[in-house]
Amino acid sequence: MSGTSKPTFYVTTPIYYVNDVPHIGHAYTTIIADVLARARKLAGRDVFFLTGTDEHGQKVQKAAAERGLTPRELADRVVVRFQDLWRALEIEPDFFIRTTMPAHERGVQKIFKKLKDQGDIYKGTYRGWYCVSDECYLSDDVPEESDRTKVCPDCGKAAHPLSEECYYFRLSAYRERLLDFYDSRPDFVRPESRMNEVVSFVRRGLKDLGITRTTVSWGIPFPDDPKHTIYVWFDALHNYLTGVGYDGDPDLFRKYWPADIQLIGKDILRFHAVFWPAFLMAAGFELPRCVFSHGWWMMGGAKMSKSRRNVFDVNLILKLFGPDPLRYFLMREIPIGLDGNYSDESFLHRVNSDLANDLGNLVQRTLTLVRKSFGGLLPAPGPENEADSGLRAAFVALKERVTSLYDDVALTRALEDIWAYIFLVNKYLADEEPWKMAGDPSREKRLARVLLQAASAVRGVSHLLFPVMPGSARKVWAWLGEKKRPEEVLFRDLEFVGLEPGRRVGEPTPLFPRVALKDFLAAMAEPAPETAKEDSMEQVGYEEFKKMDLRVALVLKAERVPNTDKLLKLEVDVGSETRTLVAGVGDVYSPEDLAGKRLAVIVNLKPAVIRGVESRGMILAAEWQGKAKIAFYDDDVPAGSRIK
Ligand code: MSP
Repeated sequence: MSGTSKPTFYVTTPIYYVNDVPHIGHAYTTIIADVLARARKLAGRDVFFLTGTDEHGQKVQKAAAERGLTPRELADRVVVRFQDLWRALEIEPDFFIRTTMPAHERGVQKIFKKLKDQGDIYKGTYRGWYCVSDECYLSDDVPEESDRTKVCPDCGKAAHPLSEECYYFRLSAYRERLLDFYDSRPDFVRPESRMNEVVSFVRRGLKDLGITRTTVSWGIPFPDDPKHTIYVWFDALHNYLTGVGYDGDPDLFRKYWPADIQLIGKDILRFHAVFWPAFLMAAGFELPRCVFSHGWWMMGGAKMSKSRRNVFDVNLILKLFGPDPLRYFLMREIPIGLDGNYSDESFLHRVNSDLANDLGNLVQRTLTLVRKSFGGLLPAPGPENEADSGLRAAFVALKERVTSLYDDVALTRALEDIWAYIFLVNKYLADEEPWKMAGDPSREKRLARVLLQAASAVRGVSHLLFPVMPGSARKVWAWLGEKKRPEEVLFRDLEFVGLEPGRRVGEPTPLFPRVALKDFLAAMAEPAPETAKEDSMEQVGYEEFKKMDLRVALVLKAERVPNTDKLLKLEVDVGSETRTLVAGVGDVYSPEDLAGKRLAVIVNLKPAVIRGVESRGMILAAEWQGKAKIAFYDDDVPAGSRIK
C-alpha cells in the first residue's frame, strides 16, 4: 500500500562485548531503548530498534584464550545469553547485530577503504599505552606510576605499553567542524552537562587516532594491508550503519538513517560524541540526531560489573518477579543521566509499595467490584458528577503530559505523573465508597458510574504504562475484556472509556507478587544455579587442578606497601620455606588482622613484581561485593599442609 509514510524513529544501544555474560548495566540501556521504541510506536512512528554484540578485539581475544576457546566459540556462547536475557525481559529489538556478520565486516572494510583512499587515513607508528579492558589508547598526559606502569584513568586497570605500526585517522583535522556542529546542534548530546564535557574536550585539541592493530588477530582485516586488523572501536561504531542495512539493504538504510537516539553509558561518551561523528563526517553520512548518555548503576559504592562481582543476578529477579518489576524499577528509580544505587531494599520497596499496593490493588479492587456487583454485568450508568468528570479530565491531561514526556525521554517523570494519577483514582474510590452502594437499588446507577470511571482509569493507566510494563498492561486489558491489545491502540486514539453495559470482565489474579523482605534477601544471597553456570563457562579436569600447589601458610609478618591503599606485604611460612608476597586486601584487613593467621596460598604461581616487591605466591580469598574475604584455618593446621 502506498500513501503517506509514517515518520520514522531509529534507536540504538551500544553493542556489548562478549568477553562476559550480560548483567544489569547492559539490561538498563537495552530496557530504555525498548521502552522508547514501544512508546514511539504508540505515538504513531515507524520504529527501528537495534542492539547487538561487539565481538572483535583484544579484550574478547584474551577472554577466549583464558577459557581455552577460540574467540568465535566464546562469542557464539555468550551471544545466546544476551539474546535469552532480552527475550526474558520482553525486550524486542528489530535487529540483533553481531560484528562478526559478513555484511557488517564488508561495510566496515568499505568505509575504511574510502577514508584511506581520500586521505583521511594514513600509516604511522603508535608508541604509547593501551588499556585492553576499555579497548582504548591512553592519552599522553596520563602519568606514569612510580614503577613505570600506567593505569587507565577510566577503568583503573593496568595498561600496557604498545609500539606498533598502525593506520591513523586524521581526527585532528575535524576539530573545527566538530565544534561548529556542536554549536549548531546543542541537543546532539544529552544531558546538557555531557554536551559541555564533550565541547571542552574537543576545544583542548584532538590528536589523530590509531585505527588498526598489528598485534591483534581477532578483528576485521584491512584487505589492502592484511597484517592490520581494524581497531575494535572503528569496527564497532559502524554497526549503527551496517545494522540498518548500509551494506545490503539500501532501502532500509535510507528509510531509517540517521539514528534519532543513540543510548550509551557515560563511560563511552567520547567514542560516540567525538570519534563517531568525525568518522561519519569523513565518510559523508548524515549525523545522528542525539547521543543520550545515561549514568551507572552502583552497588556498595562501586560501578556494578561482572568483574567486580557486585552485580545481582538478573535471572533470579526474573524468576521471582517476571520482567515488569525490574523494568519499572530501573526506569522509575533514577532519571536517565544520573547514577543510581541498587539495593535489594529499594527494589523491593518499589515492588511492594508502587506496584503491589498502589497499582495492583487499584486493578484488583476495581475489577473485583465490577465482578461482584450486578453479577459482573454493568447496567447503564448514571450521569457524571463533578468528581467523575474531574477524573476524566485529569486523565486527558495526563495522557498529553505522559506522551510528551515519553517523547522527551523523561521516563522517570512520566512514571511519576502516572503514579500521581493512580493516587487520585485510589482517592476517588475511597471517597465514593462504591463497596457500600452494592445491593441498594436506589444507588444502582451511581454505582455503575463509579465503577465505569474506575475501570476507564485502570484501562487508560495500563495503556500509558505499556511501554514500561508491556506484559502487565496486556493482562489488565484482557481482564477488562478489551478486544484489542494495548499496542494496537495509538496514544492519540486512547480515550477515557471503560466498560459498555453488558460487558463481562475476567477474574484478576494479583498483578504483582508481594514478597517479604527477608525472603527476598535470602533468595538474593543464594547464588542461583544460573549464576554458577555463567561463571564456569569452562570445566577443568582434575589433572589441570592438580597442577596448582595450594598450601596452608602462616603469616609471620604483615605490613602495608607504602603509598598504596590496598596492598599488604606479607612474610609467610609455607612449610618448606618463608616467602614474601603482596596481597591486595589492605582495604579490608589491617596488618594486625593478618599477623599470626593461617590462610590458603597458591605457591607455584609465577612470581610477579608488584610495586617493586617480588611477590612469590598469592593468597586465596573470596570476593564479595568487590571486597576480599579471607577464610582462615584453625591454629592446629600446620603451615605447609596441602589443600586439595
Ligand atoms: N562494546 C562497547 C560499546 C561499543 S558501542 C559501538 C562497550 N561494551 S560494554 O559491554 O563494556 O558496555 C556496554 C554498555 O554497558 C556501556 O554503555 C556501559 O556504560 C554500560 N554499562 C556497563 N556497566 C554499567 C553499569 N553498572 N550501569 C549502567 N550501565 C553500565 O563498551
